[in-house]
Amino acid sequence: MFDVEKIRRDFPMLRGLQMQGKKLVYLDNAATSFKPYSVIKAIENYYYNCTANAHRGDYDLSHEVDELYENSRAKVAKFIGAKRSEVVFTSGASMSLNLVAYGYGVKYLKENDEILLTEAEHASNILPWFKVAEITGCKIKYVPLDEDGRLTLENVKKTITSNTKIIAVAHVTNVMGYIIDVKSIAELAHQNGSILVVDGAQSVPHMKIDVKDLDCDFLCFSGHKMCGPTGIGVLYGKYELLDKMDPLLSGGGMNTRFDMCGDVGLQIPPLKFEAGTQNIEGAIGLAAAVEYLENIGMQQIEQYENQLRTYAVEKMKEIEDITIYNSKAETGIITFNLKGVFAQDAASLLNSKGVCVRSGQHCAKILMERLQTLATLRASIYFYNTKEDIDIFIEACKKGGDFLDAFFND
Ligand code: ALA
Repeated sequence: MFDVEKIRRDFPMLRGLQMQGKKLVYLDNAATSFKPYSVIKAIENYYYNCTANAHRGDYDLSHEVDELYENSRAKVAKFIGAKRSEVVFTSGASMSLNLVAYGYGVKYLKENDEILLTEAEHASNILPWFKVAEITGCKIKYVPLDEDGRLTLENVKKTITSNTKIIAVAHVTNVMGYIIDVKSIAELAHQNGSILVVDGAQSVPHMKIDVKDLDCDFLCFSGHKMCGPTGIGVLYGKYELLDKMDPLLSGGGMNTRFDMCGDVGLQIPPLKFEAGTQNIEGAIGLAAAVEYLENIGMQQIEQYENQLRTYAVEKMKEIEDITIYNSKAETGIITFNLKGVFAQDAASLLNSKGVCVRSGQHCAKILMERLQTLATLRASIYFYNTKEDIDIFIEACKKGGDFLDAFFND
């Protein structure tokens, strides 16, 4: 049974504050998530009890670390329905997307080829493709969003051409929060001879993912948004694609041999992409996070967050002074403004009530033009949030109508 009070006790950030009698309402989970004890303990165990490098030593301790590191990969692979050889550890979703852009895009695209993006993408899923266009001469095209700001299969069909080589889109965008139909877009992409790159930073932490079922070619995500540590992320890629693309970084661990003439033999994937000493504690921490999420159940998490979102949006709609930009989204991302109050000022007001939300452009700068605003507020829910958090958030928003009085006199 999903017991949010029990879950909250697993998180030192929530428990510590409670013990100090402080109430912090953390609604910036799309930026990063809190970590449960089990993740912190797994990292601690690596430093306290079994520190050595991975894939380099010939002694028992080192073999123990090899096993921890590779078992972590296997756990993450199983979590998304992939093979172990298809999971590359990176520093995060941004690095994963850059790896595909440089390792695949730069290698295989040429002038007149096209990459399809949307206006709602995060900078991490736009700027690397700009680089590919600059280097190869290929073109960037944007699939129009529908009137709610959603990416539809219909619009992908209207935009795709025989020159389209890559479609790169977020499974859930970090501002609009809609879930896109990856499976149908993958089918369309493959019929057209294109590949589908999915930015899963905002989806993998919140829902059950099966890459084989979705049939995407690449999936990129970060550990820190899913209860894992910062500085670790994943690039999933179909093995045959990983095999034919280039590594972005060269160095120790990714080669099998090299000579004075510059002849280099590469490891097979995933090691081909993991040059230098890796973020071993990050991988171990991410595996612990995966285990933690699996114990709760991804379907339970998705369902609970949905209920909380519906509750929040209904309450927000009762407040006249709120504009919601994505009231129909299916995830815990709620993007809004308090009418007449600049987003950053409103975030300061909410902060004064102990409520953490993000304000600004959320790295989705093109989208702001479409929303016709300079900046927005974004509240983002995770499974450890409660109805009480939402109630406190709503009460704080109500102060927005009287912003200056509330901020200076309350
Ligand atoms: N990409 C993160 C966000 O949307 C940082 O807030």
